[in-house]
Amino acid sequence: MPSLRPIRLAPSILSADLGRLAEEIREVEAAGADWVHVDVMDGRFVPNLTLGPVVARAARAATALPLDVHLMLVEPERWIEPFAEAGADTLSVHVEACPHLQRTLAEIRRLGKRAGVVLNPHTPEESIRYVLGDVDLVLVMSVNPGFGGQRFLPAVLPKLERLRDWIDRDRLPVDLEVDGGVDPSTTPQVVAAGADVLVAGSSVFGRPDRGAALAALRAAASAATG
Ligand code: DX5
Ligand code: ZN
Repeated sequence: MPSLRPIRLAPSILSADLGRLAEEIREVEAAGADWVHVDVMDGRFVPNLTLGPVVARAARAATALPLDVHLMLVEPERWIEPFAEAGADTLSVHVEACPHLQRTLAEIRRLGKRAGVVLNPHTPEESIRYVLGDVDLVLVMSVNPGFGGQRFLPAVLPKLERLRDWIDRDRLPVDLEVDGGVDPSTTPQVVAAGADVLVAGSSVFGRPDRGAALAALRAAASAATG
């Protein structure tokens, strides 16, 4: 049966020209992006270092679209408030980085933000079973986080399917997002498996025509939803 879930596209500024950040964001906004994905890396949880709250604030000033902030940090609880103040709409933390995950998710909501939980490719869906009532979004990594432009790992597809079943069975108001290696060739698989928010870095900002890139992703998504 074709799904009626709306598919949202979230270009990741990790692959944008950061010297022209505001123009890059306005370009994807005009081309129909739904959210802007912001990858925060600390050089410890992942082997790369990116941006902090000051850059998130600059992204906030450039757009009215929701800012989807992906925290790839050890001790993410230390950074929730600065990113909330910088204008994040959703703050997502990795289950692997949070010994007291429920507390961290509750803290995000206490600050009036949407709470997201992220699973690395090897992390089973069972690890978040008891926090599904505390989240607005589940993000399934389909690459090992740290870099754009990596190859999609199809082994995560059954995890998306299982999470989609849980969300639908209990009618949970939870978005199911996928991040890593999403392009027009992998989009039909992730949408068929149940994802309804697609993060795309190199397949949007790595292409000269961002409008055509987003249109190609939408066409690939509707081929899966029917
Ligand atoms: C990877 C980041 C992703 C990255 C995706 O650690 O979390 O958001 O930007 O890039 P692509 O779409 O190129 O795989
Ligand atoms: Zn990301």
